[in-house]
Amino acid sequence: MADMTVAYSPSHGLGEEQSVWFKLTPLLNQENPMQVLMALADKYNGVIPINLKNQRIVLLSEPAHAERVLVSNADNYTKYFDGLRPIFGRSMITIDGALWQKIRTPQQAAFHPQMFEEYFPYLMSAIDSKMARWAKFASTGETIEMVEETWTLAAEMVCKALFDREMPFNPHFVFKQVKTYTDVMNHKSIRLKNVRGELVEITGEDTAKAMEVWHSVPDTVMGANVLEYREKTLLTMLQAAEADPDFPEFDHRQVIDEMKQYLWAGTETTALTLAWSLYLLSQHPEAMERIRAEARAVCGDADPQWNQVQQLAYTRQVIQETMRLFPPIWGLIRIAAGDDDIQGHKIKAGDKVVILSYIAHHSPKYWTDPEKFEPERFAPERAKKRVKYSYLPFAAGKRACIGGALSQIENTLALVQLLRRFTPEYVGPNPAKIHATVTLCPKGGLPFRIRELS
Ligand code: HEM
Repeated sequence: MADMTVAYSPSHGLGEEQSVWFKLTPLLNQENPMQVLMALADKYNGVIPINLKNQRIVLLSEPAHAERVLVSNADNYTKYFDGLRPIFGRSMITIDGALWQKIRTPQQAAFHPQMFEEYFPYLMSAIDSKMARWAKFASTGETIEMVEETWTLAAEMVCKALFDREMPFNPHFVFKQVKTYTDVMNHKSIRLKNVRGELVEITGEDTAKAMEVWHSVPDTVMGANVLEYREKTLLTMLQAAEADPDFPEFDHRQVIDEMKQYLWAGTETTALTLAWSLYLLSQHPEAMERIRAEARAVCGDADPQWNQVQQLAYTRQVIQETMRLFPPIWGLIRIAAGDDDIQGHKIKAGDKVVILSYIAHHSPKYWTDPEKFEPERFAPERAKKRVKYSYLPFAAGKRACIGGALSQIENTLALVQLLRRFTPEYVGPNPAKIHATVTLCPKGGLPFRIRELS
């Protein structure tokens, strides 16, 4: 293949001054940003209008709002990606309309539940490497950063299961570059970044460097050791679309951008869920014990088999409850193409709307004792009674996450395997605080020490 390298694009700017992220900075740059948003939602009955000189941002927080924007009138709301283009390029997550459908169709098969059994050994093999690493940490007693640990695991899972490749890059280094863009606190026009209490200006050079590193990753993955030469992987599906003469829009650049999308959207979210769940479990040792008991009951002393994954029901509920309390994507942004009326609230063409999933997830209207960690809420008989669209970790409607089911399998297996051998002990400030980037991150990370069970 001659055309493996794509010319480096110089468009690496951070968010524009008109960016929603930029406008939200004063709200987000607080000790407890989600509390601030919840108090505002309470005050304004679930709809927070932000009226600026030349634009309007409407923050929405009710399930009925999500239904209107994401489902029943979804065609009126287009995707918004200011400042994140360098991460996503023109991958399908950013595209609307007929072209989005066309781009998504050839990839859909990789996320069909029938494929998951094929991915299973690769997910287990990535967890095995993580366990080997944790055994070392247990012997040295050193403090580790959990989000880095789980991000590496999620990235290895994507490379192995979906791309049929070893993970050929250093995820700590690469994902730090990604954060230049997804940490929206960088999206101030003055681009000052608070690094350990000091204000450091992020220069065009920094962003260009971050962009260059990120841009090189897909080619590195493609060139890495092939594991099994499987015929049908996500990567071969992308390559088949590129080779299809009837699909000129799906060029090599599209393949690269789709890979970038998976290497971010399919990894940071999954990693945050696993890291937050370990944090919650460290505060709720009885739930950790219940996971171990479930694993013993289902798998005995052996590793889980594919046909046992469905039976790890409580473990999956822990993951679901974690995504309720700490939804990795806490806000979904759209632009109104035309006027609309959302439950009596006028939306004008051009308005930006933000669905605040976090608020719906924490609302006492939809959840009893919403701040309490209670995985049993997701037991099937209770989950059935849930108000529709009050739980949106993967969004809803046709633009819902393509990898939601896969991520839950990844994290269920990871929890079971890691907790049967180790006790991860959270050693950071309690309670952990939130840093609202595009994803819901822990402020200053989640430091842990690892203890090996005797
Ligand atoms: C806990 C894990 C995950 C969470 C919370 C999550 C969340 C989301 C959300 C909320 C969206 C919709 C964004 C919007 O509408 O603006 C989305 C879209 C997407 N996600 Fe995930 N995701 C997760 C895991 C994954 C995984 C494992 C993959 C793939 C390996 C993946 C790939 C994608 C893609 C490609 C889209 C765009 C779909 C489209 O526009 O057609 N995600 N995700």
